[in-house]
Amino acid sequence: MQLTTNINESDFSYLDDKIVYLDSACQTLRPQQVIDAMAEYYHKYNSCGGRVKYNWGVKLDEQIRETRNKVLSFVGKSPSEYAVAFTLNTTYGVNLVLGQLPFKFKRIVTSDIEHNSVFLPTMTAAKRMGIPRIVFQRLTDGSLAYEKDDLSGAVVVLNSMSNIDGRELVNLKEVASDAHKAGGIVLIDAAQGISHGQEIIRESGFDGLFFSGHKMYGPSIGVIVIKKSLLTELDINFIGGGMVEGVEAEAYRLISDPDDLSSRLEVGLQDFAGIIGLNACLDWLKSYRPAGMSADTHQGQLAKLLFEELSKISGLRLINSSPSPIVSFYSDKIDAHRLAIFLSAQNIMVRSGYFCCHYYLKNLKLYPPLVRVSLGLNNTKEQVKSFVKILQTIMIHA
Ligand SMILES: Cc1ncc(COP(=O)(O)O)c(C=O)c1O
Repeated sequence: MQLTTNINESDFSYLDDKIVYLDSACQTLRPQQVIDAMAEYYHKYNSCGGRVKYNWGVKLDEQIRETRNKVLSFVGKSPSEYAVAFTLNTTYGVNLVLGQLPFKFKRIVTSDIEHNSVFLPTMTAAKRMGIPRIVFQRLTDGSLAYEKDDLSGAVVVLNSMSNIDGRELVNLKEVASDAHKAGGIVLIDAAQGISHGQEIIRESGFDGLFFSGHKMYGPSIGVIVIKKSLLTELDINFIGGGMVEGVEAEAYRLISDPDDLSSRLEVGLQDFAGIIGLNACLDWLKSYRPAGMSADTHQGQLAKLLFEELSKISGLRLINSSPSPIVSFYSDKIDAHRLAIFLSAQNIMVRSGYFCCHYYLKNLKLYPPLVRVSLGLNNTKEQVKSFVKILQTIMIHA
């Protein structure tokens, strides 16, 4: 059975119309505008940021400044309070900040449903700082079950949306407020939340936020949004070009211009094409109206359809308790990896395994490998229906 789906009117028309890509939680597809913006940089002003005086570099610097401002406006924060730094990905950003925190905190707090990119660095950071690490439960509604006393002097590191079933950290605002009152800080892994749950992020007074361009229709680049007050407290020990204003035989001075503090987290030359692509991606996200709707409405409709249809298939055990653009399940009748391979034979791309959440899925919940279906703005209702139909057929014969 082969699918044909029509996405030709969209900005993903380069895609073969037989392909049903359902792995946006890993990497979203890139709209043509993002690809074009990156190609334009390579073709027309391939230069280095923050250093050169010739026209290409001046144009690039302007674009970098603009991208930082657009990121801040996207997450609802002001440039007087927050800085934006570019890195490799979410994982890199989390490690960079946790690995340079000053030794003044009493504990690290995280949750059971974190991706390894938070679960593991919180272990190494607790060890480095010689402080305890507390792992709280995330309830099925996504909220963190915590005791206020445990937030005293704490570094709280949590995802704002799970990459297993899309559950959101619905009490983030409350957690942040309690942590701040108790002298703690809050660092948010927004790798998933940045494309589906921006409201929760915008409303919270986080100290640090980490996300990846490749999960929000942008290039493979990481972003850190960090309070300037925390950035200036970091014990910068990962160091090199582009970060100093003076060097002596045995000492150096970091750049101190309050408008250039991001340089403390940007070691050496950056992925300038990536920054340009992210700029284009932020513009694209503002204007893209899939099937004439807002992105949230479109994703909400597809998520509802997907959840309702999957709930009807006998033999599937859904991890989700409600609709979400990210849905995981398993079946006692067929192994998740085999199912993913069968679906791939029909041009349907889904993920199988533990999605870097080994502790929660394998150790705590004792689940077998799962199948994960994640929706993106390139997907259509027809694609969801076709996927469900093919899955039903496979399950009947399993
Ligand atoms: C919730 C969550 N956090 C962190 C990450 C890590 O992102 P990256 O691999 O871009 O560093 C992922 C990736 O899937 C994720 O889903």
